[in-house]
Amino acid sequence: SPPVKVAASILNSDLAELHSECNRMISAGSDFLHLDVMDGHFVPNLTFGHPVVQCLRPKLPGVLLEVHMMVSKPRQWVQPMASAGANQYTFHLEPFCQIGSTGGGSDSSSPVVGNVDTEACSECIRHIRENRMRVGLGISPDTPVHLVFPFVESVDQILVMTVHPGFGGQSFMSDMMPKVKSLRDRYATLDIEVDGGVTPDNVAQCASAGANVLVSGTALIKSPDPAAVVARLKSVYKS
Ligand code: DX5
Ligand code: ZN
Repeated sequence: SPPVKVAASILNSDLAELHSECNRMISAGSDFLHLDVMDGHFVPNLTFGHPVVQCLRPKLPGVLLEVHMMVSKPRQWVQPMASAGANQYTFHLEPFCQIGSTGGGSDSSSPVVGNVDTEACSECIRHIRENRMRVGLGISPDTPVHLVFPFVESVDQILVMTVHPGFGGQSFMSDMMPKVKSLRDRYATLDIEVDGGVTPDNVAQCASAGANVLVSGTALIKSPDPAAVVARLKSVYKS
């Protein structure tokens, strides 16, 4: 796998102190920052958008800013986020999918996505590149991993969500690890990111499945010693 990287998610930080919270995470050894953008439509929560990224950008020189776009219209915010100074634009596949039934009868609970609009998703990827950002493509827990295979060669990172997106502080879903492993088995050098509930207690599962980019929110933000948490997250990667 490529080298391990840790990204702090500031979603559950004191957002009135966002700049100092970001600095605190960088000082603790976070390799970059993961900024969770929610539109109240793709997920049932609201956070912030490109105006906040634009204010942070000059105060964090040299820090890579990933925006995790939990939004229904990913293409709409590409140019505004690029202008604001985001370096990596991670969007979801689901807005380019149609919801279908599981085929398992009328009582099947969780919907399964399929019927990817490949052309629209590819065009969004191209648009992100034209705006000179790294490209991340994410999938939520109910989305089968094989749906991203056609896009892997044209993106920089695949994000496998390990919680249902929308809120920080949820429990890590170990049953997402087979998705990570199936990506790692096929793509030896791909950056594979896991996001949601990642802590020192479950990072060994992420590492053995093959994830190399670790997003951590509450485990870092709420710790009295975030540098120790970063060190523990990375320690399982030292063989
Ligand atoms: C969930 C977000 C995650 C999350 C990470 O919708 O995308 O980035 O906030 O925070 P923890 O580590 O607390 O789950
Ligand atoms: Zn996130």
